[in-house]
Amino acid sequence: MELRRCLLLTALLLPAALPFPVQVRPAPCTGKVILLSFCTESPSPTETDEEDEDIFNKILKVNKDSSQLLQEGDIVPRRGRSAINCRHCNWPQSSDGIVRIPYELDPTYETNHVKGIHDAMAEFEALTCINFVKRKTERDYLSIRSADGCWSNYGKVGGGQTVSVMKGGCMWKGVIQHELEHALGFLHEHSRSDRDKHVKIMWQYISPADRPDFKKFENSNNLDLPYDYSSVMHYGPYTFSNTTGKATIVPIPDGSVHIGQRQGMSNLDVAKINKLYNCSRCSTILDGPSGSLRSANHPRNYSDNTNCVWLIRTRSRKVSLHFQAFHLQNTRGCQGDYVKVYDGSSKTSPVLMDKTCGSKIPNSIISSSNLMLVEFITDGAHTASGFQAAFAAGKSENMGNGKENSPCQISLSIHSGKTWKDCSP
Ligand SMILES: *[C@@H]1O[C@H](CO)[C@@H](O)[C@H](O)[C@H]1NC(C)=O
Ligand SMILES: *[C@@H]1O[C@H](CO)[C@@H](O)[C@H](O)[C@H]1NC(C)=O
Ligand SMILES: *[C@@H]1O[C@H](CO)[C@@H](O)[C@H](O)[C@H]1NC(C)=O
Ligand SMILES: [Zn+2]
Repeated sequence: MELRRCLLLTALLLPAALPFPVQVRPAPCTGKVILLSFCTESPSPTETDEEDEDIFNKILKVNKDSSQLLQEGDIVPRRGRSAINCRHCNWPQSSDGIVRIPYELDPTYETNHVKGIHDAMAEFEALTCINFVKRKTERDYLSIRSADGCWSNYGKVGGGQTVSVMKGGCMWKGVIQHELEHALGFLHEHSRSDRDKHVKIMWQYISPADRPDFKKFENSNNLDLPYDYSSVMHYGPYTFSNTTGKATIVPIPDGSVHIGQRQGMSNLDVAKINKLYNCSRCSTILDGPSGSLRSANHPRNYSDNTNCVWLIRTRSRKVSLHFQAFHLQNTRGCQGDYVKVYDGSSKTSPVLMDKTCGSKIPNSIISSSNLMLVEFITDGAHTASGFQAAFAAGKSENMGNGKENSPCQISLSIHSGKTWKDCSP
């Protein structure tokens, strides 16, 4: 019965919710698969169901047909200088420490596209000091348009610079973040000066015309942070291969290490932005199927004047969070130190647990998608031992009501084809 209600709802929502075609793979329970794709509010604006494809592959597939002149697959070359020569191309920081980057959106974007772009931007805002703000009259800004592919300039160019996020193919959170990171002044991870210590470039499978795309930048600014195989800025293993099944980039010494990204920014991507832009942030992305988080020094006392967030980003399931220890300074209305939890990836997402302090262990929390943001703020007075919590993908055992147990409701949070067997009646 739950199922029928949901399908009915689907039929009503379908034309409005889908301005672009969604490809649905035939599967054992097709009816419910459609429901998976349509009933749910997707964490990213997916256009096909190929979730396992790495971000750069998606970009290249779209840019194959682009008439825009591009370097390394998706970077607009600068006139008269090499792409790497990016002095004075960082966006300026305001005196409050925030880097506000004005942008305009293509008027032809529909509601879903705008939401997808805003969701991708919201993660920068939650995890770094980069804020994308609607342009008023600023001279330098990003013009985010559905142009000819997924591409961007490297760093701030001056004036209105295009970031192309084409409607038919670039509307993925990771792809949007990749192009925005170019605009922030980041190059591809494998073009770092130290890449040969971490990956082997298999030149024998790269046609001469594509070789410049694997150029190494001897002067790259590595920010004293480690090489990141899982950067949203890393090519996938088969990028520009001219021989099916032969990788062009192989991690060393362990060739089985996964490279390329599917879900969005990595912890090191965030750390690099925070370092380049002098953001004083304390941000962690937790993207395993389960794990734990705790305040700094726990169980010893946390410090005064901290501002930390944890973005929990599991794959394709709800997130449940259970507090195991909780001791915070107790103030009226929790105006001092507090923990706050959001249903999504930004501080503008709906609140799951409002400011909480004191020593009572809060109830467990379940998010409505695969994203949950935990914020921990401390003021300048009093500390305590802080908190520790565990998270897991999917529904927790000891909570929820009947509604959350219905097959339809559970299916709603599942996007991955691997879990289709779960949607039995
Ligand atoms: C692939 O690239 C290599 C190296 O440039 C070249 O020798 C080879 O002929 C290319 N193979 C194909 C199928 O184009
Ligand atoms: C960050 O701080 C350093 C040192 O104070 C400065 O040289 C650099 O320009 C700053 N970066 C930005 C993006 O403001
Ligand atoms: C740690 O926090 C407790 C509880 O607020 C407090 O009583 C104690 O003095 C603190 N210890 C230190 C070393 O600050
Ligand atoms: Zn790129």
